[in-house]
Amino acid sequence: MTKLTDLTPFDDRNLSLALARVSEAAAIASAKLVGGGDEKAADQAAVDAMRTQLNKLDIAGVIVIGEGERDEAPMLFIGEEVGTGNGPGVDIALDPLEGTTLTAKDMPNALTVIAMGPRGSMLHAPDVYMDKLAIGPGYPVDVVTLDMTPTERVHALAAAKGCEPSDLMVCVLERPRHEAIVREIRETGARIRLITDGDVAGVMHCAEADKTGIDMYMGSGGAPEGVLAASALKCMGGQMYGRLLFRNDDERGRAAKAGITDLDKIYTRDEMVTKDVIFAATGVTDGSIVSAARRDGDYLETETILMRSKTGSVRRLFYRQKNR
Ligand code: FBP
Repeated sequence: MTKLTDLTPFDDRNLSLALARVSEAAAIASAKLVGGGDEKAADQAAVDAMRTQLNKLDIAGVIVIGEGERDEAPMLFIGEEVGTGNGPGVDIALDPLEGTTLTAKDMPNALTVIAMGPRGSMLHAPDVYMDKLAIGPGYPVDVVTLDMTPTERVHALAAAKGCEPSDLMVCVLERPRHEAIVREIRETGARIRLITDGDVAGVMHCAEADKTGIDMYMGSGGAPEGVLAASALKCMGGQMYGRLLFRNDDERGRAAKAGITDLDKIYTRDEMVTKDVIFAATGVTDGSIVSAARRDGDYLETETILMRSKTGSVRRLFYRQKNR
């Protein structure tokens, strides 16, 4: 039977402003714990605030990318229904605090992140790793692919950009598992921006290469963060690919539970997020995308980037509220 929520159109224009409130609330809640050394507490504060705000929205929302499976995440778990139930059926991908360690240590680029699209539009990525590759807009389709070696990617991108490999900057998460990739990239002459955490921001940086200096993102990170990054790039422009990585049968089981049968599939950006999407991210610590949530006397201030893929619109919202 067709449900009313299936017939209600996804009003991305109005919902986007509501989405900003959700990410703002999470940033304000976790900002109080910046530098406190307690990753869990900061994450929990963001989760609580995000959930409270989401439940005020007139949507029939389902968390597709969340804090984990129901048994390991008491709130905002995958499959949890959020919103008043009156409104369009929507898929939601969120990371209430992307960069828990960055927050706990007051390091740059911790964000609260949320994306929303019509029901059935987002890849149900299990909480496993994903091999990721991203570049910004303006290049031919498939100029770089996940099947290429890092060396081939650097040379292909340099040729497409009309520059030398040494003019390119590649962003990579600093992890022991990436040592070989880092070595190979350096051998091409390309330079590397190593980040300690936060690959949603890492991928987003590719979309504004002139500003950030980053031309390409590669390496493995969380698959949930991959879908969030794909949502952002769908709004900003740019290409992204992801392939799920499985370390054991438990992780393969998670994929089966999420309805994934082809375990080796390479997903393009538009296969991870198939329809129009709205995306909001608010700064928790200072960063190159948005500034930190900060206290100014009796007030709290946040900066949010809010984007719609349908129009390619990008808003930067500054919010100020009395510190309660
Ligand atoms: P958290 O905020 O959940 O700590 O994630 C931060 C992060 O750096 C992500 O941006 C990235 O996708 C993932 O962790 C990488 O995982 P790992 O730390 O296991 O390499």
